[in-house]
Amino acid sequence: MLIRQIVLSDNEFNTIRTLVYDLCSIDLHPSKKALVQMRLSNRIRILGLNSFSEYLRWVANDASGKELGAMVDSLTTNLTSFFRERPHFVYLTEKMSSLEVKRVPRLRIWSAGCSSGEEPYSIAMILRDLWSDIDAMDVRILATDISSNMIRLARQGTYSAQKLEKVPFTFRQKYFGKVNTAKDEKYQVKPEVSRLVYFRRHNLTGPWPMKGPFEVIFCRNVMIYFDRVAQQELASRFYNILSPGGVLIVGHSEGLTGLEHSFQYVRPSVYMKRS
Ligand SMILES: C[S@@+](CC[C@H](N)C(=O)[O-])C[C@H]1O[C@@H](n2cnc3c(N)ncnc32)[C@H](O)[C@@H]1O
Repeated sequence: MLIRQIVLSDNEFNTIRTLVYDLCSIDLHPSKKALVQMRLSNRIRILGLNSFSEYLRWVANDASGKELGAMVDSLTTNLTSFFRERPHFVYLTEKMSSLEVKRVPRLRIWSAGCSSGEEPYSIAMILRDLWSDIDAMDVRILATDISSNMIRLARQGTYSAQKLEKVPFTFRQKYFGKVNTAKDEKYQVKPEVSRLVYFRRHNLTGPWPMKGPFEVIFCRNVMIYFDRVAQQELASRFYNILSPGGVLIVGHSEGLTGLEHSFQYVRPSVYMKRS
């Protein structure tokens, strides 16, 4: 069956571009027009509408902002995996092992732009494995994402066998339990790991209700979608909410080069707030 194309005019594209930029600083370059047309055509069909002009009226009339959120959701990339960019987790293990944990009254880690949860759960598995008495410690991982859909999936913490391939074998054995769904076999993160992680929907370019300070912030493969102004602003806000000696970890293909900041370079894509 042929799926009918829904035409997206340049004016409509520019309206969408402005809406998305104003909400979350994601800059949709004109080269993304075909992608926007394809992804939002699906939303338009789901809502039973016929054109982009009808859709934009729908978004404007939705005072709850829910459809605007769904729009951003269909335009962003949520690609992630357990232990993605593994050297960062090696670094985390080294940094955490060197802490004199018993003397650290409180440890806060933030996974900003956590997608479907693989990143914060990878962090939680490392910490749980490192400290057998972690339940007696004040350790929390805050995991946030702009997408309500991703936060819902992340909270479920249920993954296919294929998604677990990147999880080290011993962690797979210890920290996941098999669940049988009507369709297939899945694996769920065990409570001893999931209870370390607090998921919240949060827009990085909006207000920050969290107080910190954080010892480690992961914000990987998120800033890449923002323009320079938003990246600069984010780097400064991360600096302010880290504790002295705390680190910001960005994606391997990202970096703070070209931005003004006071971080000390530690290794590729790892930056420390000076003590
Ligand atoms: C490519 S994923 C990266 C996931 C994970 N950090 C990783 O590296 O595997 C990017 C995530 O950033 C989220 N995101 C994009 N803009 C955001 C914003 N303004 N505030 C919070 N999250 C945002 C997206 O919803 C998406 O889940």
